[in-house]
Amino acid sequence: MRLLLLWLAAFTLTAPALAETTQEIVNKAPNGLAQTPPMGWNSWNRFACSVNEKIIRDTADAMIASGMRDAGYQYVVIDDCWHGPRDANGFITADPQKFPSGIKALADYVHARGLKFGIYSDAGRFTCGGRPGSQGHEYQDALSYARWGVDYLKYDWCNTGDRNAQEAYALMADALHQTGRPIVFSMCEWGTAKPWLWAKNVGNLWRTTGDIWDSFSAKDKAHDWAHPMLENVDSNEPLWPHAGPGHWNDPDMLEVGNGGMTIAEYRSHFSLWAMMAAPLIAGNDIARMDAATRSILLNKEVIAVDQDALGVQGRRVSQAGGQEVWVKPLSGGAKAVLLFNRGDQPATILASADEVWRKKAKVRDLWAHRDLRWSGSLKAIVEPHGVAMFTVTPL
Ligand code: GLA
Repeated sequence: MRLLLLWLAAFTLTAPALAETTQEIVNKAPNGLAQTPPMGWNSWNRFACSVNEKIIRDTADAMIASGMRDAGYQYVVIDDCWHGPRDANGFITADPQKFPSGIKALADYVHARGLKFGIYSDAGRFTCGGRPGSQGHEYQDALSYARWGVDYLKYDWCNTGDRNAQEAYALMADALHQTGRPIVFSMCEWGTAKPWLWAKNVGNLWRTTGDIWDSFSAKDKAHDWAHPMLENVDSNEPLWPHAGPGHWNDPDMLEVGNGGMTIAEYRSHFSLWAMMAAPLIAGNDIARMDAATRSILLNKEVIAVDQDALGVQGRRVSQAGGQEVWVKPLSGGAKAVLLFNRGDQPATILASADEVWRKKAKVRDLWAHRDLRWSGSLKAIVEPHGVAMFTVTPL
C-alpha cells in the first residue's frame, strides 16, 4: 500500500518538480550520504556487458571471504547491461537470461551479507551499452530502484543529445529523493559540464574524466575514449578544492588486479586514489584475485588515508622531472605524504620539512607497515613507477 501511494505520489509530483527551476532543485539539502568516499565494487572494468547474477552473487561472497567487506568495501554495483525491456506500463525489467531471479532477489542476497547494493542507468534514451535509459522515466525508475532495495545509483551520460547536464542530474537526484530511500548518487558525465562547479548538492560523487584504461601511461589507439591511469590523475588533481564530505571527485574505478599494470604501478594507482580522497570502487574479479592484488586492495593503512574523516583531497605540492611529492591533510593535524616516481629509473625523492612538518612527529610507512623516526624530512629511494607512502603525526 505504501508503495502504491509512493508510486501515485511520484507521478503527481512529476509536474510540479519539473516546474521547479534547476537551481531550486540543486539548492535542496544534500542527502547526507557518503561522508567519506564510497567504497565497493563495480562490474564494469572486469566484466563489461557479460555481467550476470552469478557473478554478482559470487562477488558478494568473495567480498566477505577476502576480508574486503571488513576493510570497508560496502557497495556491490551492477554496471551497464543488466536491463531487459520496459514492460507495458513503462517499468524497467531485468534481462531475463542474465538475471533470471530478478533484481530484488539479488539485492536481498547482497543485503543478507551485510553489504549494500547498487545499480546503473543513464540520463539518455539508451545506456552506453544500448539498453533502455531513464530519460522520461526518471521518477518511475527511481521508484523501481527503491522497491528493489537499491542503495547506490551510477547515472551515465550516453545518448543524451542536447540535454543539459545540470537539469538532467538534478531531475534524477530529485526522483531519488522523492522515494524516501537513502540512495548514493554517482554522476558519470565524465567531467564534460564541469559538475564540480554545480553538483555539490546533486550527487555524492561525480566523474571528472573519461573512462580509465588499465595501463600506467600508455594510450591504446583502439580505445581512444579511454585514458591511462596517469591521465586521470592529472585531470583530477587540480580539482582538489571541490571535494569534501558528501561530494567527491571521481577519477573512475580501480583497475587494480586486472592485469594491465605491474604490482608497483597498481600500488601507485591505489595510493594516488587514496591521496585524492577518490571513491575506492574495485573493478577486478575479486572471487579469483591473487595475493599481490589482495595485499593492495586490503592495505588498511592506505584505505584509512582515503577514508579520513576530515575529507580533504590531497594534492601535488612539488614536482621535479618525474618525481613528485603529494600531501593530504588528515584529521588531528596529521598528514599523509606520498613520494611518487613516474620515471623509468629508481629515484631518491625528498619531502622537506617545509612541505610536511617542522616539529616532532611520529612517522609511519604505510606500505612497509613500520614506524620510522622523524628526522625533519622524508626521503626514500622509490622504484620506477612506484611510491613510498607515509603518515606524519605531530607528537
Ligand atoms: C561509460 C562509463 C563507464 C561504464 C560504461 C558502460 O563509458 O563511463 O564507466 O559505465 O559507460 O557502458
